[in-house]
Amino acid sequence: MPLSRREFLRRNSLTGLGAVLTPTLLAGASPAAPLNHQSGASQSLALLGGHPLRTNPWPTWPIWNPETDEKRLLEVIRSGVWSRAGVVSEFEEKWAATVGAKRCLSVVNGTNALIASLAQFDIKGGDEVLVPAYTFIGTVAPVLATGAMPVFVDVERDTFQMDPAQIEAKITPRTRAIIPVHILGLPADMTRIMAIARKHNLIVIEDACQAHMAEINHQKVGTLGDAGCFSFQNSKNLAIGEAGAIVSNDDAFMDRCFSYHNYGNPYGTVSGVIGIGTLIQGTKLRLSEYQAAIGLAQLARLDQQTTLRNENAAYLKAKIEKIPGILPYRLYDEVTRAAYHLFPFRYQPEAFKGLPREQFLKALNAEGIPCLGGYAPLNKMPYLNDAFQSKNYRKMYPKEMLNYDRYLENNHCPANDQLCQEAVWLTQNMLLGSRADMDDIASAIEKIHGQADKLVIKK
Ligand SMILES: Cc1ncc(COP(=O)(O)O)c(C=O)c1O
Repeated sequence: MPLSRREFLRRNSLTGLGAVLTPTLLAGASPAAPLNHQSGASQSLALLGGHPLRTNPWPTWPIWNPETDEKRLLEVIRSGVWSRAGVVSEFEEKWAATVGAKRCLSVVNGTNALIASLAQFDIKGGDEVLVPAYTFIGTVAPVLATGAMPVFVDVERDTFQMDPAQIEAKITPRTRAIIPVHILGLPADMTRIMAIARKHNLIVIEDACQAHMAEINHQKVGTLGDAGCFSFQNSKNLAIGEAGAIVSNDDAFMDRCFSYHNYGNPYGTVSGVIGIGTLIQGTKLRLSEYQAAIGLAQLARLDQQTTLRNENAAYLKAKIEKIPGILPYRLYDEVTRAAYHLFPFRYQPEAFKGLPREQFLKALNAEGIPCLGGYAPLNKMPYLNDAFQSKNYRKMYPKEMLNYDRYLENNHCPANDQLCQEAVWLTQNMLLGSRADMDDIASAIEKIHGQADKLVIKK
């Protein structure tokens, strides 16, 4: 169904989540009601006409603080130097230092950070790239953009991450790379993934687009593989609007990425310089100076916000895991910090008198707790068939590999199918609230749990 322009714009600020958004979530606040705060499991459910448990607004996103953020931005705008120059380089240096990488290159978005990385590791038509089934299309589209074939690895439902135990069965002589995704801002099991990759001589490009500042054994994600890619899209924990970055310790790779992002011109070339000689096939992915100025303002707050998200997530998790039928994420033992781009849990209808997840989501939204159901399975959507029909695929792959039904069968991911049915997400901005805000989330779930029978439609 075509969207109205207004609806399109509203949805667009959250597109990175790639999920179905409810009107409440889009509004950023809970529905208005005469009473401000009616707690207690005994109150009538908001979905059935009662007062919402919460009517206070949630912290909004992105955050813009004119006192601290506008000076630099205005300087850039007034300077007239808007194309890539010193402020972009400063942002890159700061981001590299923040995550502990030798080098950083900023680009127009996370999708193109992945495309550039794949291209500069020479991944092309005829190759296969392993991706987790539970992710955003922004992980898979770059694989298709290079002409390579995505191969989906099933997930662990309790961690929401790529299941390392299932990787080796998917490796073929064509496999060139793995893209582990630190999905929802929770780190993937990099220790096991790296061991498998090294054993099979595979490139590892971390999709850390949702995982700013997340750590495994005190090392930031994005620096554990051969390269790491970040997104600074509007919904992300470091928001610029549309922007992304590649980090790596591999100088030769980063030099090539730089060239690629500036038409293939030599490393270090700046905008406006022509006739210098183009070295490699490239494109144009440069960040603007004012985007970098926004990024620097956001970066100043990121560490503190990440700490707060971790504290609130731990508190909320401990509260809601006591509610029957609510199974929050599990972090691997080696995780020393998560990013919590989203706070996920799995919902079990059996513990809620059979109440379907969609009804639970509606009921929780109605109580003033914005929430959404997350991803649909990416391993069986029509875009894959579109790739299989393409001239590129037909030229690059032998006939037996172009049997789409067989591809779907080989890429069947049953755990992911189930996860997509049971996931519930809360967005990162909610974790910037107070302990009382976390209590509201737990109380609203408890309220629905206590009265689920009233919501179940009797047949
Ligand atoms: C897991 C994941 N990969 C890739 C991307 C692509 O990033 P961008 O939206 O900046 O292109 C995103 C974000 O939207 C993402 O969440």
